[in-house]
Amino acid sequence: MTLAFSPPKPPYASYSGVGKLMPSDYWTYFRAMQRNPLEIWGEHHFSIRLAPFRFLGRSSLILNDPAAIHHCFVANAANFTMNPLRQAVLRPFLRDGLLTAEGDIWKTARKAVSPVFTPRKVNGFAPQIRAVCDSAAERLAGQAGATISVSDLMVDLTLDVLMETLFSGDEALDKARFTRGICDLLEISGIPHPFDLMHLPGWIPRVGQGKSRQVIADLRDQVGAVASARRAAPSPEQAGRTPDFLDLLLGAGLDDTAVIDNLLTFLAAGHETTARSLAWTLYLLSRDTQSRERVEAEIDAADLDGREAAGWTSQLPFTEAVLKESLRLYPSAPMLARTSQEWDLVVGLPVPAGTDVLVSTWLLHRQRDIWQHPDEFRPDRFLGDAAAAIPRDAYLPFGLGPRVCIGARFAMMEMVIVMACLLRHLRFDFAGERDPVPVMRITLQPDTPMPMRLSAR
Ligand code: HEM
Repeated sequence: MTLAFSPPKPPYASYSGVGKLMPSDYWTYFRAMQRNPLEIWGEHHFSIRLAPFRFLGRSSLILNDPAAIHHCFVANAANFTMNPLRQAVLRPFLRDGLLTAEGDIWKTARKAVSPVFTPRKVNGFAPQIRAVCDSAAERLAGQAGATISVSDLMVDLTLDVLMETLFSGDEALDKARFTRGICDLLEISGIPHPFDLMHLPGWIPRVGQGKSRQVIADLRDQVGAVASARRAAPSPEQAGRTPDFLDLLLGAGLDDTAVIDNLLTFLAAGHETTARSLAWTLYLLSRDTQSRERVEAEIDAADLDGREAAGWTSQLPFTEAVLKESLRLYPSAPMLARTSQEWDLVVGLPVPAGTDVLVSTWLLHRQRDIWQHPDEFRPDRFLGDAAAAIPRDAYLPFGLGPRVCIGARFAMMEMVIVMACLLRHLRFDFAGERDPVPVMRITLQPDTPMPMRLSAR
C-alpha cells in the first residue's frame, strides 16, 4: 500500500483555549488572529466536541460536533443570527446582499435570488465558463516549460469566469479598474481589525477605514453604472445573447441597490473561495501523482467534446472526489459564525443569550473521531460506500441550513470545468522551495504564490 500525502499545517497553539482565557494568553491569541487565525487552535481542539471559552468578557462556544451544529444551524437556526465580528468585516461592503442581510430583508432577498440559481439556470452558464477556461488553456499551452504562480493564475481565471457570467464582459465595466478595487479591498479587509476583535462599537474610527470606504464607494459606483446601462439596453432575448447574472437579477424584480448589493456579494462570496479551492487542488495533485494520473486518465477517457460542459461532472466522478477532498482539507470558507439571541440548550449544554457559536470547518473536517487519517489526502473517501458513510453535518464546505451557500452548484460545476479544460492539455508540477501552508484571511490562502512548472501533456 502506498502512503497517502499529508500536506503541512500551521503549528498548534500552546495555550489551552478552553474555559477562561488567561490574560497571559491574550497576546498569543491576538497575535495569532493577526498573523494566521488557524494558529489559535491547539492539538486538543481537533478531538474536542464542544469547547466553551471566555475572552474579554464575551462567551464563545466552538462546535465540533455534528448534532450540536445541526441544532444551531438547522433545527433552531432562528435563534442564531450572524455574528457581529463577521458582519463588521463584510457588511460595510455587501450591505443587504444575501451573505450579510438578516431577518425579513434576508428572507425576501433569498426568495428573490433563488430562481437565479436553479439547476437549469446554473447549467446555462456552463458554455461561458468553458469558453473562458479553453482560452486560458490555450494561452497557458504557449507557456509550457515556464514556472508560474498557480495562486495568481486561479485568482485571474476565476475572476474572468465571474466577469463573464455576471456581466457577459459588459463593455460598460472597466475590468482592470474593477479588478484593482476588488484586490485592494481584499487586502484591506482580509484581517479582522483589533477593535472588532474587542467588540468595540463601530463608531470608533479604525485605521484604514477611510481607504476601504473609498474603494467600496468606487466599486459600488462602477457596478451601479453597469446596472443602469443594462436596464436601458435591449433584453437578452432581443439581443440574442445568453442571460448573465445581471440580467437574471434585474429580471427577478430587485431594485438597483439590491442588484448592486447582490452582484458584489456574488463576487465576494464566489471569487476567492473558488480560486483558492482550485489552487489547493492543483497543489495536492502535484504532490500525489497517482491521483493526478487517475484524474488525467478519467478526463482523457471522457467524451468531453461530445457533451455539454454542464454534464461533465457526472462523467468525472474521481475528479469531483478530488475537489471534495481538497475542500475538506482546505475549506475555503473556514469559519461559520453565529450569535445566540436567547438562552438555549445545545446537546445538553446550556448556552446563554449572546454566546458566539463558531464552527471552524478547518477543525471539523479534521476531527479525529469522525475522519480516518484526517490529515491525509485520500479522494476515495468521497466515492461509493465510503462517501455514504460520512456522518451528516460532518462535511460542510458550503455551510448548512437556511443560509447554505446558494452558489454551491455553480462552484462545483465551475471547478470541474476548470480542471477538465486545463488538465486535458497541461500538467502542473510543484516547483516551490517549500510547501505552502494555509493562512486564514477570510478564505484559506497559501502563504506562498504556489510556483508550478507547466508542461504540455
Ligand atoms: C468553492 C466555492 C465556494 C465555497 C467554499 C462557498 C462557501 C460558502 C459558505 C460556507 C457559505 C455559508 C456562510 C455562512 O453560513 O455563514 C456560503 C454562503 C453564500 N455563498 Fe458561497 N461558496 C462558494 C462559492 C460561491 C459562489 C460561486 C457564489 C455565487 C456565485 C456564492 C454565493 C454565496 C452566497 C450569496 C451566500 C450567502 C447565502 C445566504 O446567506 O443566504 N458562493 N458560501
